[in-house]
Amino acid sequence: PRNIFFSRHGESQYNVEGKIGGDASLSERGKEYAKALPELILKNIGDSPLTVWTSTLKRTIQTAQALPYPKLTWKSLDELDAGVCDGMTYEQAYPDDFANRDEDKFNYRYRGGESYRDVVVRLEPVIMELERQENVLVIGHQAILRCLYAYFHHLPQEDLPYIKIPLHTVIKLTPKAYGCDEERYPLPI
Ligand code: F6P
Repeated sequence: PRNIFFSRHGESQYNVEGKIGGDASLSERGKEYAKALPELILKNIGDSPLTVWTSTLKRTIQTAQALPYPKLTWKSLDELDAGVCDGMTYEQAYPDDFANRDEDKFNYRYRGGESYRDVVVRLEPVIMELERQENVLVIGHQAILRCLYAYFHHLPQEDLPYIKIPLHTVIKLTPKAYGCDEERYPLPI
């Protein structure tokens, strides 16, 4: 059976600073994760073929760097566009009403940016291609992986923006006739 692996990029400098969006490089810890990833994947996949997909953002490309597999870069895998809030901390982005976005997080669209609903739409071609592929490792972003994960597990829209996709963890999905089996491999970095 084929496997789909998901991983967020290694910790970025923006993750350290609690900032939204951007195109930051990996932090020192993030670089450690990128270094450790090839061994974890090799243990799992052996000599089966694998393709690695990244976004066009530095943090995913740097995370994929040491992986000895063919790679593909997708603009559609770039993180949810936070528009005018790009580069802000959450406190700066939602100064008085932190709950506003929480009322309907799936449909909340950043000014000049995107909603989760928008992201689901732009991920359609990615999902179609994922359905046709054999083993793929997607190195993505928090919001993006929530959308892909929800698709494969048939999770409802209202839960999607809250799915836990931790850093430094590989999630392995094995599609079955109905739904997917799942295993998680956290790396203690
Ligand atoms: O904080 C990292 C990040 O990838 C941001 O770039 C992005 O806006 C956010 O996560 C998505 O998560 P949430 O929708 O919960 O803010």
